[in-house]
Amino acid sequence: MSGPDRGDEMVALAMQARERAYAPYSGYAVGCAILADGALYQGANVENASYGLALCAERSAVAAAVVGGARGVQEVAVVTASSPPAAPCGMCLQTLTEFAGDPTAVRVHLANPEGERRTVTLAECLPYGFRRDQLRR
Ligand code: THU
Repeated sequence: MSGPDRGDEMVALAMQARERAYAPYSGYAVGCAILADGALYQGANVENASYGLALCAERSAVAAAVVGGARGVQEVAVVTASSPPAAPCGMCLQTLTEFAGDPTAVRVHLANPEGERRTVTLAECLPYGFRRDQLRR
């Protein structure tokens, strides 16, 4: 694990981002905060009348980080209404893994507004994520 745990601050930012989620179809709002290259980025889920187009909070936060110029995901916080707090979906775990130098060193804080919290690593959530160095053509 590299760097001090920024969990409290990041869960608060994810909670704030969740307030801005656009989830009129599922009613399931998700907020995310990502620490990448030392800066914090937020994301929320964005749904669509064409349901399959829903963008998850985590991928929206990754996009914000990349547009902000960051490439190295260091720590993640996700807030949902689930109890116990929910982990990111498989697609988001793969997207986060793309930008994680060492997935065993990336803390993922899972929280809900009731104050429940669990911290895992990205590698625990996605132990065999596909890596760019596996690409052979
Ligand atoms: N969702 C996320 O934002 N992140 C996840 O990791 C899982 C699901 C969103 C997508 C959709 O807007 C809603 O939650 C219900 O699936």
